Amino acid sequence: MNLSIPVNEPLIGIKEKEYLSDCLKTGWISSVGKYIDLFETNWAKFCGKKYGIAVSNGTAALQLAVDSLNLSTGDEVIMPSFSIISCVLAVVRNKAVPVLVDCDPDTWTMDVNQIEKKITNKTKAIMPVHIYGHPVDMDPVLKIAKKHNLAIIEDAAEAHGSQYYSKINTAKGKWEKCGSFGTLSIFSFYANKPVTTGEGGMVLTNDEKLAERLKSLRNLCFLPNRRFCHEDLGYNFRLTNLQAALGVAQIERIDKIIAKKRWIGKQYNKQLMGLPLQLPSEKPWAKNIYWMYGVVLLDKYNLGARITMARMKEKGIETRPFFVGMHEQPVFKKMELFKREKYPTTERISRKGFYLPSGLSLTTAQIDYVTQSLREILS
Ligand SMILES: Cc1ncc(COP(=O)(O)O)c(C=O)c1O
Repeated sequence: MNLSIPVNEPLIGIKEKEYLSDCLKTGWISSVGKYIDLFETNWAKFCGKKYGIAVSNGTAALQLAVDSLNLSTGDEVIMPSFSIISCVLAVVRNKAVPVLVDCDPDTWTMDVNQIEKKITNKTKAIMPVHIYGHPVDMDPVLKIAKKHNLAIIEDAAEAHGSQYYSKINTAKGKWEKCGSFGTLSIFSFYANKPVTTGEGGMVLTNDEKLAERLKSLRNLCFLPNRRFCHEDLGYNFRLTNLQAALGVAQIERIDKIIAKKRWIGKQYNKQLMGLPLQLPSEKPWAKNIYWMYGVVLLDKYNLGARITMARMKEKGIETRPFFVGMHEQPVFKKMELFKREKYPTTERISRKGFYLPSGLSLTTAQIDYVTQSLREILS
């Protein structure tokens, strides 16, 4: 079988084309227009939040979210070592200090048991990051944040529609969407995300004042009553109506998108059982959307992720390595950040983990081919 299976590809439907051509016909191609408003309103509603502020990408969303908290130089934000650089960047660029905790060996999300011992009198926020579609164990995070009066910047970039069973508000508990928990919650709509606008992001909040501040920051902090006059430093992080049109179309079929992601995850789970691999988990309190289906080679298997990935490539299958821990990033070593810090779970999974094709157009035959190929390589 000579297949070329990408790790991801966007699935663009008829509605996207219809809404896009509406933008072109009406001339609303810039950062104002009905699709921007609809995208913000509909995504906030889907996630259970009041306000949505669409921005140019997820990295910008993090940057704005941290900026909106008005941190002072040296304030600290606790976050996972296993994540994308955007999380640390947002904090460092706002002159605050990122403080790391290791990840949980099962879910690969931040180990919530390590948070409290990292709290100091400078700590101002916690940044939980839902990894590869699996939620962070949010109730302990919410309790710690309340106890120490900390903001939560929830990074749900990879967790569109993932759910967490929270018992914070009711004794019986309730399934809540990822992105509904943060003081500020952020999303990415990059092309490899379940809902994609090509490039794009959003910040969600229930706080009206934060929402106003975020809107101002995204648009150069023009004074409302005097354009071209500024009391603060902002950014141009605007999303276009064209991009938002794609998002609006996809939110209309979000249930189908999530069902397909979960179906892919379950097919892989079934077919990869018994191989020397740790498969993604789904805790009883979690609904994983398997944004990317990640696997970690078990220690008893001799080859590393790199060689295994190269062999997959020879078979026409594209894969991607896991994140490199933030404490191991050359750029942060140069900056003398995270000096001599060790996060053993992050280190192990970043060397032994990679993810398999997980795109929305993946077929049963492709999943069979990927799993059969991996079986051959690992046996
Ligand atoms: C957890 C997480 N946060 C933030 C981002 C940044 O999003 P973007 O690529 O849209 O800037 C990503 C990107 O994939 C991500 O995975």
